Amino acid sequence: MDTSIVYLNGEWLPLSNARISVLDRGFILGDGVYEVIPVYAAEDGRQRRPFRLEQHLARFARSLAKIQLANPFEASSWRILVDEIISANSAENTGHCLVYIQVTRGVAPRAQAFPENVSPTVFMMTMPLNLPDETALEQGVAAVTAPDARWLHCDIKSISLLGNVLMAQYAAEHQASETIQLRDGYLTEGASSNVWIAKEGRLFAPIRNHLILEGIRYALIEELAREAKLIFEARPIKEEELRAADEIMLTSAGREMIAVTRLDGYPVGSGRPGAVFSALHAGYQRAKERE
Ligand code: PDD
Repeated sequence: MDTSIVYLNGEWLPLSNARISVLDRGFILGDGVYEVIPVYAAEDGRQRRPFRLEQHLARFARSLAKIQLANPFEASSWRILVDEIISANSAENTGHCLVYIQVTRGVAPRAQAFPENVSPTVFMMTMPLNLPDETALEQGVAAVTAPDARWLHCDIKSISLLGNVLMAQYAAEHQASETIQLRDGYLTEGASSNVWIAKEGRLFAPIRNHLILEGIRYALIEELAREAKLIFEARPIKEEELRAADEIMLTSAGREMIAVTRLDGYPVGSGRPGAVFSALHAGYQRAKERE
C-alpha cells in the first residue's frame, strides 16, 4: 500500500485514500493538464529542492490557458503547495523525486462542452525520480522510430496521453527506451522527451511549435549549449538528418539528458555517447548544483 501523502482539492491524505468521482472530466474525457517537476535531494539527502520550478509553473499556466481552464492558484500559492508536498513526503523518501500536478475541469454530468459553475479537480503527488543509471549514461540507450499520429496541439501538456502511451508501449515491445516520432518526414519528439541531434559538433532541435511539447529542458539545453560554446540551431529536421546524425539525445524531467546510441537497431554515429552529449550532460549536473 502506498502511504505517500497527496494533495486533493484542499486536503492532504495518503495516496491510497485519495478518491475522485467517476464523473471527473479527467477520467471521462481526458479534460485536464499536468506538470512533472524534478526535485533534487542534497548530498545528505535532507534538503530537497525543485529544479526550474518557475518555468514549470509558467508552462502549467500556459497549458491551462490553452484549454480555457482558470488557473486555480497564483504561482506563489503553487510554490507553497509544492514545498508542502515535498516536506510531507520527506520522512518517507529522502531521495530525489518528481512532483506531479494535475488539474481537470472537475466533476459534471458527461457532456463534451464545458460545464458551468464547476470547480476544477486539483491533484498533486510525488513519484520516485529514477535517474538513468551508470550503464545508460556510459552506453546510451536504444530508440525506435514511428509516425507521429498524435493531434496538433502537442504544445499543451494534456492528460489525454493515448498517442504517447501507444508510442511508449511500442518502444517497450521493441526493447527500446523511447520512440522517436516523425511527422511528414520530419522529427517531432519522443513519447515523453524532446529530441536533439548533433552533426559535426553543432546541435540541432525541432522548432518549438504546436507539434512538440516545449520541455523545460529545451531552454536549459540552449543555455548549456551557449555555456559550452556549441552552435545551436532550432529548425525542421528531416528524417534523413536524424538517421545520419553523429549523436542523438533525449531530454526530460525524469531522464535529464541521455544519449541514443542505437536507432531502429543501427548504431548512431560511433555507437557511443559523443562529445556534445558529454558537454551538455556535465553542464546539466553543474546547473543542478548551482540552483
Ligand atoms: N514528459 N515531450 C513530451 C511529449 C513529454 O511528455 C515530455 C516530458 C517532454 C520533455 O519535457 P520536460 O523537459 O519539461 O520534462 C517532451 C514528462 C516527464 C512526463 O510526462 O512524465
